Amino acid sequence: MGFLSDTLARVKPSPTIAMTTRAAELRAEGRDIIGLSAGEPDFDTPEHIRQAGKAAIDAGHTRYTAVDGTPSLKRAICEKFARENGLDYAPSQISVGTGGKQILFNALMATLNPGDEVIIPAPYWVSYPDMVLLAGGTPVIVPCGIETGFRLTPQALEAAITPRTKWLILNSPSNPSGAGYGRDQMRALTDLLLRHPDIWVLSDDIYEHLVFDDFEFTTPAQVEPRLKTRVLTMNGVSKAYAMTGWRIGYGAGPEPLIKAMAKLQSQSTSNPCSISQYAAEAALTGPQDYISTSREAFQRRRDLVVEGLNACPGIDCPTPQGAFYVYPSIKGLLGKISAAGTRLDSDEAFANALLEETGVAVVFGAAFGLSPHFRISYATSDEQLTEATARIRRFCESCA
Ligand SMILES: Cc1ncc(COP(=O)(O)O)c(C=O)c1O
Repeated sequence: MGFLSDTLARVKPSPTIAMTTRAAELRAEGRDIIGLSAGEPDFDTPEHIRQAGKAAIDAGHTRYTAVDGTPSLKRAICEKFARENGLDYAPSQISVGTGGKQILFNALMATLNPGDEVIIPAPYWVSYPDMVLLAGGTPVIVPCGIETGFRLTPQALEAAITPRTKWLILNSPSNPSGAGYGRDQMRALTDLLLRHPDIWVLSDDIYEHLVFDDFEFTTPAQVEPRLKTRVLTMNGVSKAYAMTGWRIGYGAGPEPLIKAMAKLQSQSTSNPCSISQYAAEAALTGPQDYISTSREAFQRRRDLVVEGLNACPGIDCPTPQGAFYVYPSIKGLLGKISAAGTRLDSDEAFANALLEETGVAVVFGAAFGLSPHFRISYATSDEQLTEATARIRRFCESCA
């Protein structure tokens, strides 16, 4: 009898860890490494939010709170949904967890039975399929290539639906592609979902505020109010307010689901950090100018990176609508040999050669379920991005 559980055996080790470990080794050897793999804003949490956290400690808000969030934070979240998304939720329909990640985990754990299927468009955020597997469900991966702008089409969705489909996970703007669904594209999906009344939608809106140009963010429950009784809208403060380490995420959905998630949370982590909940409340109710400042910085960096990558022979980099990632194709490089003699027969081989030969760390596309691509996170300085794209260009130019 093995010591580790069968459940754990269902989960793959993170394919990105090998890359990160190798980058750290090279750095320790004194190599000049540019890391473009981190999924978090490089800015500090805004001052007034940090102050709210300190004030919460001094005011003694250091004890257990209600399991799935303080009443005042839940009210602030309801106000956020009303103000920014035109969605009317009561506090009893809100769940606060330790990051959006816990909200997703709770929802899947609370609802999936063996054989239940969850449709996940690829490229996907790495955690979705593994969370589904941990919860005993079956991930159904639907490839959404560069030709559809990395978006799920109604035809592809329809083809993936079976009598066992329980959830569809949507993530707009997306990690890793940055693709966002415009209102019409979202409506095409919600129209189809109206015809499938047993399917629930998990909408991961964590990059809501990081949208560029004139792209208008939309979320399924807002686009189609008739779906609201079977949508869990997930969001959080991590990306919007540079608060990744504070660990506060939230979800809004039908009360029976919210109660089930609270039951699960009560037997695992209990309440999310009390201090962080006060800071998150300050983030949602206080001045919102950080959002536009960070959006401008990220849009400038996106343009810099897209332009730099499209100047690289063999790389095709679409312009994303949001988040802080680009997901270029390396189709034009497959089969070539790098200057140091590596055959580029996969995106993993490309990412490894790029790291070894130029010191630029990216994440290969197979990790996100769609090849041949790689992901760059441009949440770093303009100087680093300029240097990184120049190194990638020299690398591509020297491939034969
Ligand atoms: C698509 C997506 N969803 C959810 C999360 C989870 O964010 P958090 O748990 O910090 O709220 C992340 C973080 O990287 C993400 O990229």
